[in-house]
Amino acid sequence: MGKEIVLTGITTSGTPHLGNYVGAIRPAIEASNREDTEAFFFLADYHALIKCQDAERVQQSRLEIAATWLACGLDTDKATFYRQSDIPEISELNWLLTCVTAKGLMNRAHAYKAGVDENVAGEQDADFGITMGLFCYPVLMAADILAFNAHKVPVGRDQIQHIEMARDIAGRFNHIYGSEFFVMPEAVVGESTAILKGLDGRKMSKSYNNTIPLFDTEKKLKKGINKIKTNLLEPGEPKDPNDSTVFEVYQAFATPEQTEEMRQKFADGIAWGEAKKELFELVNGQLGESREKYLELMANPAQIEEVLQAGAAKARARTRDHIKKLREAVGLVNFV
Ligand code: TRP
Repeated sequence: MGKEIVLTGITTSGTPHLGNYVGAIRPAIEASNREDTEAFFFLADYHALIKCQDAERVQQSRLEIAATWLACGLDTDKATFYRQSDIPEISELNWLLTCVTAKGLMNRAHAYKAGVDENVAGEQDADFGITMGLFCYPVLMAADILAFNAHKVPVGRDQIQHIEMARDIAGRFNHIYGSEFFVMPEAVVGESTAILKGLDGRKMSKSYNNTIPLFDTEKKLKKGINKIKTNLLEPGEPKDPNDSTVFEVYQAFATPEQTEEMRQKFADGIAWGEAKKELFELVNGQLGESREKYLELMANPAQIEEVLQAGAAKARARTRDHIKKLREAVGLVNFV
């Protein structure tokens, strides 16, 4: 049996933060080192254009996210690491899939519906500000996945519907053209992977502007950690680890033994300042080496470019034959 194909994309519209690292980057890199899987990780830069029409921001984010994955130890000999926009086969498949996708299915997509709901609530035209990019977002995502016939797609909870739609679209194509061209992808939602809370105690997310950047300077990391919201309990008063972002972030980076020690310190009434200092030391100790690598890479975009070009060649070699069969299936082949 062939290896199981694991594939996931990262939308390049922001700067990676601690939540991305703990919730997506770290587990994905771990999974890519397993012998029984073949990993495809890509920069979803076409998807970024849906959310962000600031060219500089998109370009900067692509670079930062690529540098982050490489700095965190992604082994690009093992995993295939590429930019979506470097794979013309994805755009091509996007159209083939668009032509079998029911509009009614897209009408049900959460991201699109949320946009419409917001317009209606604001007494705007229902379509105000909604692009075809947003409307067709799930088709492009299906093309990303189906181009490589991925079996498993690690995603956040908010993306599960998109994977279900990819299955729906794949099934329709298979049915219309009468063969099992596509395997049915499955979403993998890490039950045990931590969803980090941010500075204000809500989920750490760039939409809430409550993030701690992953590879900023040591000083900024310290400042970020110091900004985590705590309660007013004094030093010496016992603190509840289960209701503390400081503890939660600590746990995401600590060994089980370190976590237990910190739990005891909370019970013993550690001062918030002290707990934050220990948190900083733990996180900084773990990220220090990667941060150096990150800064090195950011100063040398040519090196990143080379890795991504090699990744694109590898990815295209994998999808070319598949797309050729699909073109034949729909009736787009040369006459002679
Ligand atoms: N839409 C995903 C997100 O915002 C990113 C993404 C694009 C993706 N294409 C994908 C994830 C394909 C998994 C598979 O998180």
